[in-house]
Amino acid sequence: MDKDRFLWGSATAAYQCEGAWSEDGKGMGEWDTFCHSEKNNVNPVTGDVSCDHYHRYEEDIRMMAEGNQNTYRFSIAWSRIIPDGTGAVNQKGIDHYNKVIDTCLNYNIVPNATLFHYDLPDALAKKGGWENRGTVDAYAAYAKACFEAFGDRVPLWTTVNEPSYYTHCAYAAGNYPPNIQNFSRRSRAAYYLLLASARAVAAYHEKKYAGQIGLVHDAYPIETEENDEANRKAGYNAELFFNKWVTDCCLKGFFSDDLIEKLIECDIDLSFREKGDDLIFHKGTVDFLGLNIYDRQYVKPYQGGKTEIRMNNRGKDNKVRAGMRIRNWFETAYDENVQKNEWGMEIYPKCIYNELTEIKRQYGDIPLYITENGVGLYESPDRTGTVQDDARIAYLSGCIDYMLKAKEEGVNVRGYYVWSSLDLYSWINGYEKRYGLVYVDYDNGNGRVPKKSYYWYRDLIEKYSNHNEEE
Ligand code: NOJ
Repeated sequence: MDKDRFLWGSATAAYQCEGAWSEDGKGMGEWDTFCHSEKNNVNPVTGDVSCDHYHRYEEDIRMMAEGNQNTYRFSIAWSRIIPDGTGAVNQKGIDHYNKVIDTCLNYNIVPNATLFHYDLPDALAKKGGWENRGTVDAYAAYAKACFEAFGDRVPLWTTVNEPSYYTHCAYAAGNYPPNIQNFSRRSRAAYYLLLASARAVAAYHEKKYAGQIGLVHDAYPIETEENDEANRKAGYNAELFFNKWVTDCCLKGFFSDDLIEKLIECDIDLSFREKGDDLIFHKGTVDFLGLNIYDRQYVKPYQGGKTEIRMNNRGKDNKVRAGMRIRNWFETAYDENVQKNEWGMEIYPKCIYNELTEIKRQYGDIPLYITENGVGLYESPDRTGTVQDDARIAYLSGCIDYMLKAKEEGVNVRGYYVWSSLDLYSWINGYEKRYGLVYVDYDNGNGRVPKKSYYWYRDLIEKYSNHNEEE
């Protein structure tokens, strides 16, 4: 991989796009079980088939290449590689990702592989999932199997996708499996997830593989409603809550005293920490940080009342306004001047600039990738069969301009990925919330139709590359 070439690409995740849920020896994943159960009642659809990327990866990767993309971020399904979470490796799972990786390389696309993107093998979920320290060992063995199988060809690895948002949904909001609402349990799961990540980083470094390994964080710049002392405090609490526990841990190798004090003050049980973990965190700092940036967190001081998390998983049909009140920490503020999409996400492209410069301010010159950026919309083709997603183009274009501004000002950002390569299953939000550069016609054999944004992105990459080659 040419380290100086800026990477432009797009991203997916295994459960969201592969389908083939029980094929070629794949084990059950926690999401397979959840989606097949009565608990899946918000948008009761499954990832059983999705856009069938498992069988159509060649066509999808070819489209990326034809769209001038030079990198593809995808995830490996743990339950395809080690069906029961622990134990024997499934050769057919290895064969599948070998094909995906080799196809990328044939098209001059840099493969960027994520080891864990929300989809825990169900056998491990049944044994306590991420609340069980044993899952950390199981993950370390799985990561090792992947490095051994694919490490010769994959130059960019991600240990864990979004430890913060994932544990928020799974253990605080409770809308993702295992559907828990308990902050002590969330802290435990989050801690083990970060420990697992650190174990994988250390193992990768120990074997001196040629590539780089990082973690992907759902990063939010924090902004406050006012600029007084109380708001500044709320802003700092929100920074701890959303960002710092992850970024300090994977970039510095330890948790800040402020965070530990705050958790103890809130009666969070931290007895799961063990002597010896500190060394693992210390040895497990990343080569790069991946940032999934969609919007900011706009907050104000906590006003009183119980902790409450309000999600919007129904788009235009949602009954409550998305946001949260975290007792004694902060609560969501609303800026009526900023436009929102149907799921309540602010259309606020400057978030990219603010976050990139903030990371540099706090952590210095570390390599960064925008590993996801995008916007979910309701979409369908017009009479000519074209998807005119001007709103997406406007948003992405604003975000990319802000990213390039930060880059020009010296932030070490090395690549950018649109979420998502093609329309796919949006977890609990189902299929109606579309993010893709390519439209998927789910009702007609999963046909692929490049959207207007696909061509816009293709031309943008070409323009950027020509301009930079000329210099
Ligand atoms: C973050 C996650 O990584 C991805 O799985 C999800 O679908 C997108 N954001 C959009 O919400």
